[in-house]
Amino acid sequence: MKQVSEKRGGFTSSMGFILAATGSAVGLGNLWKFPYLAGKNGGAIFLFIYLAFIFILGIPITLGEMAIGRNTKLNPIGAYQKLNKKYTFIGISGVACAFIILCYYSVIGGWVLKYIASYITNATMDDASAYFQNFIQSSAEPVVWHLLFMAMTCLIVVGGVSQGIEKASKIMLPLLFFFIVVLAIRAIFLPGSAEGIKYFLIPNFAAINSFSDFANILLAAMGQVFFSLSLGMGAMITYGSYLQKGANLQKDSTIIASLDSLFAILAGFAILPAVFAFGYEPTAGPGLIFETLPKVFESMPFGGVFGFIFFVLVFFAAITSSVSLLEVVTSFCIDNFKMKRITASILLSVIMGVIGIFAALSFGPLSNVQLFGNTIFDVMSFISDKLLMPFGAFFMCIFIGHVWGVDAISDEITNQNTIAFKWRKLFGIIMKYIAPAIIFIIFITSFIPTK
Ligand code: PHE
Repeated sequence: MKQVSEKRGGFTSSMGFILAATGSAVGLGNLWKFPYLAGKNGGAIFLFIYLAFIFILGIPITLGEMAIGRNTKLNPIGAYQKLNKKYTFIGISGVACAFIILCYYSVIGGWVLKYIASYITNATMDDASAYFQNFIQSSAEPVVWHLLFMAMTCLIVVGGVSQGIEKASKIMLPLLFFFIVVLAIRAIFLPGSAEGIKYFLIPNFAAINSFSDFANILLAAMGQVFFSLSLGMGAMITYGSYLQKGANLQKDSTIIASLDSLFAILAGFAILPAVFAFGYEPTAGPGLIFETLPKVFESMPFGGVFGFIFFVLVFFAAITSSVSLLEVVTSFCIDNFKMKRITASILLSVIMGVIGIFAALSFGPLSNVQLFGNTIFDVMSFISDKLLMPFGAFFMCIFIGHVWGVDAISDEITNQNTIAFKWRKLFGIIMKYIAPAIIFIIFITSFIPTK
């Protein structure tokens, strides 16, 4: 099939790959979404269901995507095309999904930049909710910050796989880990934090009053596993395609999924105890880190410093994820249209930057532009998280289980039988039946109105 040029690039070491892939996984999904989802969905109950799905779906699907990538050494579209032309649509859905996610992901990335700036300039956030609402509803600021975030993402991707992506992750991820541990310790030792810790660790079944409550928690947890591990849209295929043959994919996928969960749990510890300690509700939703958390920082000694550290941390997490999103689409343009890396990444960033402006404005001037009661931002995130990601993951499992075959993928996973694959049978059953069945259920339930 397609000739892959030597210049395609690659990670310099297995460690570099693990850090970059973990950088992709650990992002706004962990620091922004996970705590608010846990806060809204019964705390510990959500946490345990989430962890169960990480094992049943997260690790096997990560492994599957990485194996497809390393086997084909191509972007998601090229990869499926090479393995079986009929299934190219899975790759197309993935690249489209990465494109859409980045348009709005960068908007939230911009909000994070704005908050870093606010802490640096010591902006008064006496009324944190009003501060947040004023900001997201204004017409210029969110756009400017979004474009800045997109430009920064572009800069790293222009740098390439080893010089840009790998280096950025190598520096940012350890810092992120250090900061979040400091913040979690700080939060746990706040007077009154015990309630929050209990909420996060001890299941309180009173949160489940009906079957529909339970179904919603399942749904939120499963969706979160895909989003948080960057699955179902080819990010792991793309990163896997830059991996050398010798790597141990089983070990790598387990490490990546475990680190991702660890970051989510640490974020839970950094945020929920603090929210409880200062008497706020954990159920604020998407505004939790922008509206509730600044109030917490405000009432804490050295709160300004912790606020600053927190948002820098969220920024690191977000940028290493947005880089992976841009890389998926960039790698496709490089492989397929033989574009130069710099041309592809700049061109794509400009296009996504412009589309993202509409998402950025959908909280303010364009909030009336709606489709079935959803703003542009909501529609974009619905199409990606609720439609394309489960769609891509479902068909990837079917493809691996029933088309490409468990034997063929096992060959790749075991490096032609040089590494043992002890849970091969289980992997086969998950790919063939369990994962598609679970995803199908998520997919269907997400269309049942909950109100
Ligand atoms: N996993 C990232 C996060 O948790 C988001 C993401 C999704 C990144 C899909 C790449 C691909 O924020």
